[in-house]
Amino acid sequence: MHWPIRHMALGLGLALVGSAQSPPETSPGHTCAQMEQFLRKGKVGTMREIPKGTTLPKRATLEYEDEKHDASIQAVDVTKPFQDTEHGAEMNFRDSWKYNVAGYELAKMLELNMVPPYIERNAGGQAASFSWWIDGTMMESDRVRKKIEPPDAASWNKQMHAVRLFHELIYDSDPNLTNLLITKGWQIWMIDFTRAFRMMKDVANPKSLLQCDRKLLARIRGLNKSMVKAKLSRWLTGPEIDGLVARAAKIAEHFDREIAAKGEAAVLYDLPRTSQACGSGL
Ligand SMILES: Nc1ncnc2c1ncn2[C@@H]1O[C@H](COP(=O)(O)OP(=O)(O)OP(=O)(O)O)[C@@H](O)[C@H]1O
Ligand SMILES: [Mg+2]
Repeated sequence: MHWPIRHMALGLGLALVGSAQSPPETSPGHTCAQMEQFLRKGKVGTMREIPKGTTLPKRATLEYEDEKHDASIQAVDVTKPFQDTEHGAEMNFRDSWKYNVAGYELAKMLELNMVPPYIERNAGGQAASFSWWIDGTMMESDRVRKKIEPPDAASWNKQMHAVRLFHELIYDSDPNLTNLLITKGWQIWMIDFTRAFRMMKDVANPKSLLQCDRKLLARIRGLNKSMVKAKLSRWLTGPEIDGLVARAAKIAEHFDREIAAKGEAAVLYDLPRTSQACGSGL
């Protein structure tokens, strides 16, 4: 199903808002390793339809060591030389669960606390990604449609600058507002990277990159081919890794130019982080 607002341009349109303080998420929740283990080992209950999205991921309740929690299960893996999409024709089209796992692993490398765990697991005889279900969220598409303003504009904008950067880094060819989930404490989570990780070596929307978290920029500078290959080659091809590494270098160069032109204070900021790569409160 497609909401009219689903595709409000993510590139330049990812809403920054104009400024009150909201509390950070309080629950320490699970560690990344605990959630990954749960998703790998949990007994999978009945698969239910998720009444949203185009590739029909499933939702199931998993049970492991007296704990129950839901997972979203995505088994799409389509490769076509050419595909008509909502964003125009695309060559070398690919829609794959593998990119969900690559997106999560990349976010961990960047220490970006904004992607819930995704792991690789077989579901009913098919390879798939399983992701930790984030309870009680609102989709950004609904926030925009209902005109709900974030209570803390500064915190929102810091997170949104990081979202923009991540989307440019992974070259998401289907960025849309149903793939940003907002918790009650106004933490933003990014999900669904099945149409990302294109082979392109250029950044699609450099103009959307206005500000950057210091740590994220340091991590982006540090991304090199051998480390990306070591961590992600199970899910990404050589040309996809080359594209990712080239875009990381271009994003770093972009911010170097911005800093030289506008000064550090106008460009760099510090995104509040937790010690857990998958954030707090899950
Ligand atoms: N881990 C999760 N936690 C909470 N909600 C989720 C999670 N995964 C998926 N959802 C919900 O299910 C919807 C559809 O899932 P998802 O975005 O993964 O698939 P999709 O939109 O069909 O994929 P595509 O856009 O590639 O076709 C999301 O918009 C979101 O509302
Ligand atoms: Mg989606």
